[in-house]
Order: sequence, then C-alpha cells, then structure tokens
Amino acid sequence: MPRKMVVIFGASNILWMVFAVSQAFKIDIFPESKIIAQIGDSISLTCSTTGCESPSFSWRTQIDSPLNGKVRNEGTKSTLTMDPVSLGNEHYYLCTVICESQKLERGIPVEIYSFPKDPEIHLSGPLEVGKPVTVTCLVPDVYPYERLEIELLKGNRSVKTQDFLEVSEMKSQETKSVEVTFTPIDEDIGKALVCQATLHINEIDSQPQVRKTTKKLQVYISPKDTVISVNPSTSLQEGDSVTMTCTSEGLPAPQIFWSKKLDNGNLQLLSENATLTLIAMRMEDSGIYMCEGVNLVGKDRKEVKLIVQAFLRDPEIEMSGLLVSGNPVTVSCKVPDVYPFDRLEIELLKGESIMKNKIFWEDVSKKSLETKSLELTFIPTTEDTGKVLVCLAKLPIDEMEFEPKQRQSTQILYVNVAPRDTTILISPSSILEEGRSVNMTCSSDGLPAPKILWSRLLSNGDLQPLSENTTLTLTSTKMEDSGIYVCEGINQVGISRKEVKLIIQVAPKDIRLTAFPSESVKEGDTVIISCTCGNVPQTLIILKKKAGSGYIVLKSTDGAYTIHRAQLEDAGVYECESKNEVGLQLRSITLDVKGRESNKHYFSPELLVLYCASSLIIPAIGMIIYFARKANMKGSYSLVEAQKSKV
Ligand SMILES: *[C@@H]1O[C@H](CO)[C@@H](O)[C@H](O)[C@H]1NC(C)=O
Ligand SMILES: *[C@@H]1O[C@H](CO)[C@@H](O)[C@H](O)[C@H]1NC(C)=O
Ligand SMILES: *[C@@H]1O[C@H](CO)[C@@H](O)[C@H](O)[C@H]1NC(C)=O
Ligand SMILES: *[C@@H]1O[C@H](CO)[C@@H](O)[C@H](O)[C@H]1NC(C)=O
Repeated sequence: MPRKMVVIFGASNILWMVFAVSQAFKIDIFPESKIIAQIGDSISLTCSTTGCESPSFSWRTQIDSPLNGKVRNEGTKSTLTMDPVSLGNEHYYLCTVICESQKLERGIPVEIYSFPKDPEIHLSGPLEVGKPVTVTCLVPDVYPYERLEIELLKGNRSVKTQDFLEVSEMKSQETKSVEVTFTPIDEDIGKALVCQATLHINEIDSQPQVRKTTKKLQVYISPKDTVISVNPSTSLQEGDSVTMTCTSEGLPAPQIFWSKKLDNGNLQLLSENATLTLIAMRMEDSGIYMCEGVNLVGKDRKEVKLIVQAFLRDPEIEMSGLLVSGNPVTVSCKVPDVYPFDRLEIELLKGESIMKNKIFWEDVSKKSLETKSLELTFIPTTEDTGKVLVCLAKLPIDEMEFEPKQRQSTQILYVNVAPRDTTILISPSSILEEGRSVNMTCSSDGLPAPKILWSRLLSNGDLQPLSENTTLTLTSTKMEDSGIYVCEGINQVGISRKEVKLIIQVAPKDIRLTAFPSESVKEGDTVIISCTCGNVPQTLIILKKKAGSGYIVLKSTDGAYTIHRAQLEDAGVYECESKNEVGLQLRSITLDVKGRESNKHYFSPELLVLYCASSLIIPAIGMIIYFARKANMKGSYSLVEAQKSKV
C-alpha cells in the first residue's frame, strides 16, 4: 500500500514572530501548514532560513515531548524525519533558528491517523435460509476511532450505521466492529453484503477516508426433498438387478451417499454416486437402503426397502390320511423355501370357494428361506369327489405396479366310502336238501367298490377263505357244508361283514319202529316201543298212539317208549313220525296185548341200549300224558300193521 501524506495548505497557516528581525533574516517551514500522516508512513518537516550565514536550528514539540524523529542539519536547512510515523508524532512541532542575536521560530501541527486495512466481514456461520446469522464487520487498527463510521449494507440497503464517539483517555489504535443479526430469506441469495468504513480525518475538509469490503451473500440451503427412484421395482426376484437414483435439493448441491442398513443398525457405505446399481441380487440383499444428501449445512435422508423374493417351489398339499366320507381329515398346504414371508398369503380352495386363508405377518429381519403352512380339518363327503383342492400361495409386492406373485398346486379330491350295507342273497334257500346246489351272492356298497371275500367260519373262530367272487356256488352240497359263511366287503378304508347260516339237510329215511320183545305180548309184560333213525339229523321223532280219531303223543326218551306191565288197553296202533324241512317218514306197528289167567308171569327187565344213529335227536316236545292203567280192562286187540311213507 502506498504511503500517503496529506498536505493541507491554506488558512490554518500560522506564523510566530518572536523577535522583530531584519528583512533579511527569514525562516520557512515545509510543508507550510498542517500535515496529516498515517501511522507507518514516513514524513519529513523541513525548516530553512535566508539571510543568515550560519544559522543554528533546533526542534521541539510544543509540550516538550520527545521528538520521535531524526534531525539533519545541512547549512541553512534542517530536516526532521519521522519514519515510521507513530502515535508519538502527533504534536505541534516547532523549529527554532538562531542567527547571532536573532531568533526565529516556526511551527507546524502533525496529525496522525490509522486506517490501514479494509474492513473484514465475518459470519457466525454459513448462511442458511431461515436460520438467523450474525454478521460482524470489523475495522482493524483504527485511530482516531471517534471519527470512524461503519455502515453495513445488504444489497443496496443500509442495515446498520454506527459511529464511535466516546473518546478514550489513551491514544491507541483500536479495532472496531459492528454486528447485525438477520435471518436470510430466499431473496438474499446472490445479494452483496457491504461493509463500509469511513474515517472522517478532517471535519472541514470533505475528503474522508473510505474503505469498503463486499461479500456476496452465499446462502446455503440444507439438503431437502431427497427422492429415490427405483427401477424396475423394490420387489425383486433372486438374480434381478436394480438401479436406484437419488436426488436431493440444496445449496450447494448436496453430495449423495448410498448406504445399506445392516442388521446391527450400522450403516454400510455403498457408493458416493447418485445412482446405485445392484446386480445379481440375492435374498440376503433384501433390506433398507438409505440415500443421504449432504452439504455444508446439513443432510437429508431417504430410505427405500428392497425385497428380493425367493419363492423357489410350488406349494405342497398333504393329507393326514385317505379321504373318507364323514371322517375328519386334515389337509395342509406347505409353501417351502419362501422369502420373505411377511404378508405371504396361503389360501386353500375347494373348487372356487375359499376354505381357509392365512396371512403371515412376520418380522422380515430374518433373512432365511422358511417353510410356511396352512392346515385345515374338514369332513369330506362323497359330493367332494372330483372337486379340485387348490393351495394358492401369494407373495404381495410393495408397489401396486405388479400382480402379486403366486404359485399354486392342485389335487383332485377322491372321497372314499367305507364298505357298508353288505347283503347276501341265497338261491334257492339257506336250508337245502343234500345234493342240491346253492348260490350265495354278496354285495357291498362303498367307494371304491369293495372287494368281496367269501370265507367259512371255522369252529375255532377262524375264517377259511373260499372265494373272491361275489357269488359263492356250492354244487352237490353235503351235510358237512352246513355252517356259517361270511362275506366281507373290503376296500382301503374299511370292512363290512355279513354272515349267513347254511343248513344242508337229508330227508328222513330208513326209520325203523320196533316193539321189544315182540309186537305181541302178554298182559303184565314190559314192552319197549322204539323208533330209530338211520340218517337223519335234527330229526324230530315223535312217537304217537292212535286214540279214537286222533293220536296221543307219547313221552319217549331217545325215540323209545317203555310200557311197564302192559295192560290190555296198551294194545293198539303206535306210530313214529320223522320230519324235517326236506322230508317226512312214518312208520307204525300194532301192539297186541293178550290177557292171562294168573299173575305168575313176570317180566324180568333186561337192560337194552337203544341207539339212535343221529346225534341230532331233538327231544320230543309236547304234552306228557299219563295213562292210568285200568285193571278191569279186558279182551284183546287184533294186530293191524299200517305203514305210510312220505318224502
Ligand atoms: C444496487 O447496487 C448495484 C451495484 O452494487 C447497482 O448495479 C444497482 O443498480 C443498485 N440498485 C439499486 C436499486 O440501487
Ligand atoms: C460414480 O459413477 C461414475 C460414472 O458414472 C464412475 O466413474 C465412478 O467411479 C463412480 N464412483 C463411485 C464412487 O462409485
Ligand atoms: C347259480 O348260478 C348259476 C349261474 O348264474 C346258475 O346257472 C344256477 O342255476 C344257479 N343255481 C341256483 C341253485 O340258483
Ligand atoms: C370266480 O368266478 C370265475 C368266473 O366268474 C371262475 O372262473 C372262478 O373259478 C371263480 N373263483 C372261485 C374261487 O370260485
């Protein structure tokens, strides 16, 4: 900075004449009037004389302070140099010259100022729209500051003007400042902030010292309106790529940082580019991605959630067992290897109608493939056969731009019915004559159609399988074929059983009716009337005696009837009848009882074993008739034998 020296000429010129001197002896001083110098400058005061051959010079200040300068005398000239000018040079300087007996004196005031630097503008912080900021305008090393005026302007408008009139005791250079607090608005962007300092050195002279600093208002805007655009979608499939672009408004333009939120809450920086591209994504890449716009004055964040779906397999339908009409069955629909399962929806449908659905609301922080399932218990009916059971899994997508992803499995229902209503038809009858054929036909309802199994029930309770045909035919039956036959209707889900009792009979034949010891006995003898059967099982043997127009049934034991001490009235026709479902045989004999004169003839009973070949004799039923013997009965009956046979 060039040094300045202000030299003021004019009315303030002062001349002291201490002595009246001759015209010839004169004193001059240069500069002639007041000198105003800035601290640090170099100034010289020159005193010169005329009319004296060897003048003697001396310098002093009016109040006899130190000169603070260097004096050089050269002939008729004396120079006082102040270099550099300091506060100690602010004096009225006097030059005295003595020539022999004459003495002349001239004086000059030296005024000092300090105003070395332009003002400084300081801000309390970055300028942000809406945020108060304090502007300080600082003017360093000023003297005399009571003449200083500082004005602060924003744009072309004065914001504040201040002067510093209070006078200090001590001379010193001081730094003075002005402070203004204001809140920037959008319109302030680009305006100039001006700090103007004026030092009025001389009130009379209107040439003040002015220094000015201009600062363009650099207004900042904290990042805001951070926006993320995602292409193609935040919902992705494994292997997909995604490009995310982030923008953020602010002044200066924010820098963009992309990071990913880790499970532990920390952030992992991914990129400092506005555009982030992720390729070949995997399920583990699902999560929250964060874009941050950052500039000097702030930051703004925006998050986006990416879901990389894994939906690797179709749902699986499983039944707890075969479907049986009327039996509860549990069907489960499993969705294996799915991610994420948050908002996974599983639906079970029968035909068009939804039987059950479930939405899984779960924490997505766990990044693993899981199997989710839906279970339902229902009671199938035969009407369900042929209907389609559908298990549908839907994985919704965040944005509505895509249909939810879905997969389904189907199964056609087949409802089984356990065998029931098993019936047996026997042709011609369950009781047959030996040698005839019989058809036993079995049927059973069920789904699938039951298989028929014919067996015979053995005496130990076991079943002896005979046929898997519906009709069991026995040709030329024998008595041993009699017994219990079992038909079973069998399918996967059950057995239904029906029994039938088959009876094979033989018509009675070879019936023999005898009287022992003879058909002709004497009164008092013991007679045994006995009926034996050759072949007949279950034969009802009935012993009868003809009485009048009817018969009297006799109480017989094993077909034998014993007459102790036969009387005359025991004579008569005895008949034996053997009958079953397939035949009838009759035999009859006539017992002749002869009267005797004396009672000397006794019957000596012999033990006779009467044996009936059949083990199946049915004991005679009917009434027991007791005939009291009548002692006075006389006479005899003629023997008549009649025989009838009917098969
Ligand atoms: C404001 O000052 C600028 C220069 O700083 C000038 O170009 C402009 O015309 C001024 N505007 C007004 C309204 O004074
Ligand atoms: C940002 O993208 C540019 C090209 O678009 C690339 O050259 C640069 O390496 C990227 N910087 C980072 C940090 O990824
Ligand atoms: C048994 O069935 C067969 C075949 O249907 C038939 O020819 C036969 O006459 C039947 N027998 C009886 C006794 O019904
Ligand atoms: C079942 O019936 C078929 C003919 O319909 C016959 O050939 C077969 O021998 C029968 N099986 C039995 C065990 O009766």
